[in-house]
Amino acid sequence: MNLTEKINEIKLQIEKETLQNAEQTESFRLEYLSKKGKVSDLFDQFKQSTIEEKKTLGALLNALKNDAQLKWSEAQVLFTSQINETKTSEDLTAPGFPFQTGSTHPLSLVRNEIFRIFQKLGFSISDGPEIESDWYNFSALNFPPDHPARDMQDTFFIEGSDGNMALRTHTSSVQIRVMEHEKPPIRTISPGRVYRNEAISARAHCFFHQVEALYVDQGVSFADLKQTLLHFSQEMFGHQTKIRLRPSYFPFTEPSAEMDISCTVCGGSGCPVCKQSGWVEILGCGMVDPQVLANNNIDSDKYTGFALGMGIERVTMLKYQIKDLRYFSQNDVRFLKQFTSGL
Ligand code: DAH
Repeated sequence: MNLTEKINEIKLQIEKETLQNAEQTESFRLEYLSKKGKVSDLFDQFKQSTIEEKKTLGALLNALKNDAQLKWSEAQVLFTSQINETKTSEDLTAPGFPFQTGSTHPLSLVRNEIFRIFQKLGFSISDGPEIESDWYNFSALNFPPDHPARDMQDTFFIEGSDGNMALRTHTSSVQIRVMEHEKPPIRTISPGRVYRNEAISARAHCFFHQVEALYVDQGVSFADLKQTLLHFSQEMFGHQTKIRLRPSYFPFTEPSAEMDISCTVCGGSGCPVCKQSGWVEILGCGMVDPQVLANNNIDSDKYTGFALGMGIERVTMLKYQIKDLRYFSQNDVRFLKQFTSGL
């Protein structure tokens, strides 16, 4: 192969080279342009050519060297400046990095909605401790000493308290704390976590959340309770919602009732969720027992009141058709991030 052919061969090689990063650019330089590179090698061979040959070969060689140098310097500018840019400044045209934002827990969404509905009716928000004495959780609420709810199976008692301190089993305890300090008119709701010694399943948990409502004033009647319940249910579940009250028993209310709403899935025509009855149970309620008022030095001849208590998990499950209670405490983002809007 003569020198002209060699020059053409190297020219073709150079043309084929693709320089896509700083590393390739440097190995290109070493291969072709360094002292021991292929182009320098051609110049060495060029020295042995005749003067006649040198005229044409010199032009060809110089063109080859220029091409190689141009290719290298273009790549060099491109890749060195890119390295500098990432090191020293931000590329304002680069797409942003998406980041995950948190979302409100469905139980908080529903609790806030309960707040909104009752606050519009003039109810304040009150709070009580999760570790309660027997008095607030049971005795002041008229639970007889041998009531099954005090049983070890339902209640987590605090060790060493002789059965006097327990994790509260319901937020009705806050009723007592409020009545102890406030005189009628009282209109308050009390949200919070409650605990029961129950096996964890799709329908039961050892802890869950309730909201208690208490209204005590002169002339508060069962009709007020019923209208408040209807208003709440329609605000929470939609204006087509119907309610019905069934007689029930709670030690701290007389009369007592349980409230059902028309099924949120079938609207009342019957489906598996409401077990074909058209109704689903949602809360307990009643007129505050005069003895409970008396326990708090409120004159039961002058004042009457109603109370109601609901599980926030239950309301949330009915509102969003969630089938398993355990989802609420599993911290699974795939579940939690479905509840970003709506309320
Ligand atoms: N404390 C009851 C429970 O945990 C719920 C309840 C029923 C609360 C009737 C009330 C009421 O205020 O009047 O099951």
